[in-house]
Amino acid sequence: MKSVLAGKHIVLGVCGGIAAYKSIELLRLFQKAGADVKVIMTANAENFVGPMTFEAISGHPVFLGMYGSHADGEMRHIAWAESADAVVIAPATANIIGKLACGIADDALTTFMLAVTAPKILCPSMNTHMYENRAVQRNIDTLEGDGFILVEPGQGELACGAVGAGRLPEPAFILNRVADCFYPKDLKGKKVMVTAGPTREPIDPVRFVSNPSSGKMGYAIARAAAARGAKVLLISGPTALNCPFGVSRIDVTTAGEMADVVFEHAENADIIIKVAAVSDYTPSEKFAHKIKKGQDMINVPMEKTVDILAELGRRKTRQVLVGFAAETRELETYATAKLKQKNLDMIAGNLVGDASSGFNSDNNKIKLFYRDGSIEDLPVMDKDTAAHLIFDRIRDRIIHSNTHPKGEV
Ligand SMILES: Cc1cc2nc3c(=O)[nH]c(=O)nc-3n(C[C@H](O)[C@H](O)[C@H](O)COP(=O)(O)O)c2cc1C
Repeated sequence: MKSVLAGKHIVLGVCGGIAAYKSIELLRLFQKAGADVKVIMTANAENFVGPMTFEAISGHPVFLGMYGSHADGEMRHIAWAESADAVVIAPATANIIGKLACGIADDALTTFMLAVTAPKILCPSMNTHMYENRAVQRNIDTLEGDGFILVEPGQGELACGAVGAGRLPEPAFILNRVADCFYPKDLKGKKVMVTAGPTREPIDPVRFVSNPSSGKMGYAIARAAAARGAKVLLISGPTALNCPFGVSRIDVTTAGEMADVVFEHAENADIIIKVAAVSDYTPSEKFAHKIKKGQDMINVPMEKTVDILAELGRRKTRQVLVGFAAETRELETYATAKLKQKNLDMIAGNLVGDASSGFNSDNNKIKLFYRDGSIEDLPVMDKDTAAHLIFDRIRDRIIHSNTHPKGEV
């Protein structure tokens, strides 16, 4: 399954910042996604990374100076601007941010930027005090007002020793923000609620019953919905994942907590996608203190938790309700039954245990089951691509179908 970046022409601007080495990884990721990448470096960037590396990896000459003789005889700052589908500057120094905010064109990158009409993504990276400097913030505001897309720097320990905002985000995060430019904004105005991750059911203060769900599929769904313009609420069990850009997250631990938060917000949602691996049973009694090792065998009585999806199906009126089913056998039988019993519009099922998909994997192999009895068997694909495909199907097979209340979702 092709990435949305496949076949796109991306121009990568690299400036003289300490994070310039990360743009090599970014270039590789764009290429892995099928994009064609050309690189423009500032003269100062050459102090940090050599153009040879970018040239060898990109397969294109690096645009360094305005006045060198280009073998192809083109006016490169115009030709590259016209062919670009998106431009990303990573890292963007305080210097380039100031120059772009003022419309200065005194080198290859700044001159090129004035000629670009495609989406422009700016990834500032610098010392925290530099980033917080009022002049820099003023310039960033100006550029956002001019239509630049800002990828905010991360927090943490910086190469200069300072701790705070200024780190260039991981290349994969930047790649996702660039990819966002190419998705249809077909969920604009919609409210999407997503649940993700495992739940934890405490046995005693130091032990719990849980499952190996990483939350990656649910987070991919939330990220995809936000990229397509939806207002997204992510209700998440414990995971190691960062909240996707543009998504509001509420953290919960137990199945009971997840049920309370879901029911509180469900009425407000247009589309609900339940990806969380919610525990079906919870210990009926939580021990107040740590159970000490003694008896050879102990019994922990368990009771059923609330069936969140079934309850949502019972309450459902105008909403689109999508569930996930992870099974170890008879996927088709269980998924079809769940679809009907819980009044779902679609269910995405997968067989766990396959190394190429499921829990904790970056990929998934899913089957989509629809209300009309049809089944779509999808190939293995990364979870972001799978998430977008699910929204394509919700749009084409549910919202725009004859069976769903028209115009209400
Ligand atoms: C070791 C070193 C690291 C630097 N790191 C950064 C940085 O991370 N961000 C930044 O804005 N400037 C940084 N600078 C300063 C820029 O290199 C300087 O402002 C330069 O004029 C930027 O030029 P350019 O924007 O044309 O690439 C650094 C300078 C040095 C010597």
